[in-house]
Amino acid sequence: MHDFKFKKNELYCEDVKVADVAKAVGTPFYLYSHNTLVDHLTKIQKAFAAVNPTVCFAMKSNGNLGVLKTLANYGAGFDIVSMGELKKAMKIGADPKKIVFASVGKTEEEIAIAIKTGILFFNVESVPELEEINRIAKKMGKVAPVALRINPDVAAATHNHITTGTLKNKFGIDLASTKKLLKEQKKFKNIKISGLHIHIGSQIVTSAPFIAAIKKVIEFLESLRSEGIHIGYLDIGGGMGIIYKDENPQTAQNYANAILPYLLKTGLKIVMEPGRFIVGNAGIFVTKVLYLKDNGFKKFLIVDGGMNDLIRPSLYGAYHEIVPVKTTTAKTVKADVVGPICESGDFLGKERDLPALKKGELLAVMSAGAYGYVMSSNYNVRCRVPEVLVKGKEFAVTKKRETYYDLLKGETVPGFLK
Ligand code: LLP
Repeated sequence: MHDFKFKKNELYCEDVKVADVAKAVGTPFYLYSHNTLVDHLTKIQKAFAAVNPTVCFAMKSNGNLGVLKTLANYGAGFDIVSMGELKKAMKIGADPKKIVFASVGKTEEEIAIAIKTGILFFNVESVPELEEINRIAKKMGKVAPVALRINPDVAAATHNHITTGTLKNKFGIDLASTKKLLKEQKKFKNIKISGLHIHIGSQIVTSAPFIAAIKKVIEFLESLRSEGIHIGYLDIGGGMGIIYKDENPQTAQNYANAILPYLLKTGLKIVMEPGRFIVGNAGIFVTKVLYLKDNGFKKFLIVDGGMNDLIRPSLYGAYHEIVPVKTTTAKTVKADVVGPICESGDFLGKERDLPALKKGELLAVMSAGAYGYVMSSNYNVRCRVPEVLVKGKEFAVTKKRETYYDLLKGETVPGFLK
């Protein structure tokens, strides 16, 4: 479910007219629905209640403080991948005991801060990383909790760039090396191996790959148990897909029905790391038509938002539904919706049937809440857009539009050129 709906020809986010937000903040901008975020989080919590999971929202999908605070208020923890994300979690008062830290390239500084903060565990991606965490924890006189991210070697039937669970990918530790580490864990005096972690990819719309991966983990756990090795946590990662176009993804309940029996069988404490499922359909990107261009061969709706604001279509060929914010009777044209960036790859949608909108009319790019703003950039020296959170009748800018001052901040012409 999501709370972006048409009422009398006008798109609303909850009880707020999208056009009113555009009037207040200008375009382009991201708009998030509080209600939708809470609905998605609670659906997961309820569906998986039998294992009472710690739901650690994958902050990489959306790091907006309003979004994070909303989710923390409803019991979420966070899956983080950098010091910046840790700082954001602390800023909104997240419980460190609900924070897990992934990333194949954690730096010494990041590891030390996370140990000091007292996070639930590091998701460790390689043997040298484990050795490094052990070394840093020893220097600090601490014992660092870790889960070993295993690579179950399961293909996830998703876009090549976002499948992670096969040995072709850089993620996780192969099963043989994981077992060796667990057997030799006494060698790592400043590490406590608390659990195992898997994450096989993103935008996965069937439960089969998840089941395949979890079955592998269960087999592995049984072989560990037979050797007297016991662990406490199983972190099953994220990856649940959403509807962008015509996908028929599993609901939280269907997903739970499929994998709960296996999770219960492990007897372990469960951690989950959903990102997209919670925030994907809880956000839209709103942009304004600048020109309708017809070159005799093709039509282009040129809008003020571009690939620097929302890169998913250009980078992954991702489909996002695009709808006018106000329904109109204007005749329909087939057009590419393109931005102002100087690249042919700068498009939000191709060959879309849309009304021939006029300059100044608004378009909403749907399902843009996950991996939208967080992947935006200043390419073409453009200001990053604002992010707005709606709750009922209220809305607030949770991140301001950048200014030209922000764009030049920290830049100088070297003295030797003056
Ligand atoms: N846990 C780990 C260790 C991850 O690497 C990810 C996502 C997640 C959880 C959350 O996955 P989700 O539930 O959101 O699928 N930029 C791409 C997606 C990259 C996903 C990276 N890892 C996109 O726009 O589709």
